Amino acid sequence: MSTVHVIDHPLIQHKLTMIRDKETGPKDFRELVNEVALLMAYEVTRDMPLVDVEVETPICITKGRAVAGKKVGLVPILRAGLGMIDGILQLIPTAKVGHIGVYRDPDTLRPVEYYCKLPDDIDQRDLIVIDPMLATGGSAAAAIQFIKDRGGSSIKLMCLLAAPEGIEALHKEHSDVDIYTAAVDERLNGHGYIIPGLGDAGDRLFGTK
Ligand code: PRP
Ligand code: URA
Repeated sequence: MSTVHVIDHPLIQHKLTMIRDKETGPKDFRELVNEVALLMAYEVTRDMPLVDVEVETPICITKGRAVAGKKVGLVPILRAGLGMIDGILQLIPTAKVGHIGVYRDPDTLRPVEYYCKLPDDIDQRDLIVIDPMLATGGSAAAAIQFIKDRGGSSIKLMCLLAAPEGIEALHKEHSDVDIYTAAVDERLNGHGYIIPGLGDAGDRLFGTK
């Protein structure tokens, strides 16, 4: 069974409260989402393997450690996942970025897929699927299935907010995928929105409502 990691660092919680605030406009919202994504990436990559390396300081030769193992692939789910990408890339600038387009049908709440472009070597990368909202879990589950169908196998999911319903759905469909979130909220409302949540992440990022 996958694990849910709630990243409750005080700075993340502080910024998340500002993100939730309905008075926060798109400019601040975008900046805050990227800042939280950067801070979260620090935790999501905590288990990266290291190798011993030799390094010459201005004083002498010594042993240091460097990141080893597989390269990283980031896969934001369009649109709202884009809002977290720049922050993560500040920390992992060599990561390749794939894109998966999925939107939620407002009536059925089922995911509709419309785009997929992934790095050729996803089977050799540690992949982080990125979407601020895990609501019913339909979009994330569909995106992860896309990736698995194309050979990806080492996958983590990173979001800002997760609903218990989405966590359960993801556990059921992809029990091998760990979830990293800044908070687990109460539940979904009748329209599939997270309560208390932050509203529509895509609209708030891009000012479309
Ligand atoms: C939002 C969000 C997730 C999805 C979560 O996207 O960014 O992708 O809803 O809901 P789910 O867990 O119930 O699938 P939306 O469908 O609004 O598309 P957008 O990012 O293009 O606005
Ligand atoms: N998508 C959003 O953007 N917000 C929610 O609360 C649920 C799905």
